[in-house]
Amino acid sequence: MERKNVTVSTISNMKANGESIVMITAYDVAMARNVDEAGVDMILVGDSLGNVIMGYQSTLPVTVEDMIHHTQCVMRANPKAMVIADMPFMSYQASIEDGIRNAGRIMKETGCAGVKLEGGVSVAPLVKRLVEAGIPVVAHIGLTPQSVNAFGGFKVQGKTVEAAQQMIEDAKTLEEAGAFACVLECVPAALAKKVTENCKVMATIGIGAGSDCDGQVLVCNDLLGVSNGFTPKFVKKYANLHDITVNAVKEYINDCKGRTFPAAEHTFKLDDSVLEKLY
Ligand code: KIV
Repeated sequence: MERKNVTVSTISNMKANGESIVMITAYDVAMARNVDEAGVDMILVGDSLGNVIMGYQSTLPVTVEDMIHHTQCVMRANPKAMVIADMPFMSYQASIEDGIRNAGRIMKETGCAGVKLEGGVSVAPLVKRLVEAGIPVVAHIGLTPQSVNAFGGFKVQGKTVEAAQQMIEDAKTLEEAGAFACVLECVPAALAKKVTENCKVMATIGIGAGSDCDGQVLVCNDLLGVSNGFTPKFVKKYANLHDITVNAVKEYINDCKGRTFPAAEHTFKLDDSVLEKLY
């Protein structure tokens, strides 16, 4: 049976039916094609592209233009998965108007299906306005990397009674505001379960938040082991593309140095009759 396009109602039905939602990041057309062929439900063009693609130390330098560029690349894969684009740092924090204009730009210039933004109760009025404007919203609470400087590092969130209760309140308020899904990042598993139970319609998507969320998300480069640098505790590496890449390129170098590549099958021929006439 041909796969149908994943929409907000697909995700809401999956939550209602207890069917796990699978999200993964992608930043270019090749990765988007591959993860879509594998059958993911949602593709997130995360502002994590600042770290994993652009080499920044955080997501803070990522711009609306960067997000539009990479989301356009992903959309050229024409995926069945629902594509969500991150709203980068300072594209929505200064005012609701900024948030609406930038989200509208991202939607219009990329054709993606919705946006993700970080924050709890404080961003709920913006979420409401975006949803009223017809823009599906994924929220993001717990460790929100755009606030890394305020948190003093990448730390597990919600470990005190006050912080845990606030997270539950944040989730309920975002649900009321109309977010159809919410990423829970670096949240103790028992708290993520409570948050999930408190959300009747908003699907929770965990990253470092245990197995009781409605779905899971990982950064594609992390789960594929693209580099051999630091890997967070919550990542399961399903492949080691770092070693595969380095070994393949070493073989290529050897072949070139030994002149065994290109071989006859990689080479174009010239007719002898042409060759003879050359001087
Ligand atoms: O930017 C990103 O990739 C994210 C995920 C880690 C959820 O926000």
